[in-house]
Amino acid sequence: MGVFLSHSAEETVRWAENYAKCLEAGDVVLLFGNLGAGKTVLAKGIARGLGIDGEITSPTYAYVNSYEDRLFHFDCYRIGSERQAYELGLADYFDAGGICVIEWSENIASLLPENCKRIKISGSGDEIREIKF
Ligand SMILES: Nc1ncnc2c1ncn2[C@@H]1O[C@H](COP(=O)(O)OP(=O)(O)OP(=O)(O)O)[C@@H](O)[C@H]1O
Ligand SMILES: [Mg+2]
Repeated sequence: MGVFLSHSAEETVRWAENYAKCLEAGDVVLLFGNLGAGKTVLAKGIARGLGIDGEITSPTYAYVNSYEDRLFHFDCYRIGSERQAYELGLADYFDAGGICVIEWSENIASLLPENCKRIKISGSGDEIREIKF
């Protein structure tokens, strides 16, 4: 386990770009942290580190956005239930050959595969972020 202290969104992006180098197809990365902690910022850095260009936006209505079928970015904040997530086929992305990065995986806990990687971001607002990985 490691810890990184980030003083800005830019630092988080740069850290995540570097972190992405250790990821392989099939990896599932869970991002933990409160609203506004920086999970989406971190996901943008992972995308950049994977060489995905184009803008990464927060998936809202669809719960998951695909980038070149290499990165699947989930935001499960608004999922109604694990049953709904299952019926939407969200679990199908875990073995679709890309890397899954998931915000609010707490809401789909029973669907998650084993051996997920975890990143926990503490802090919000103007605070320094502690990134544990
Ligand atoms: N060190 C930092 N790392 C990341 N973001 C930071 C940092 N300092 C300030 N911020 C700001 O915090 C906000 C993080 O927003 P972001 O959308 O990434 O949060 P989130 O964790 O995805 O929230 P949500 O649960 O609502 O999706 C951004 O406005 C960003 O500029
Ligand atoms: Mg977010």
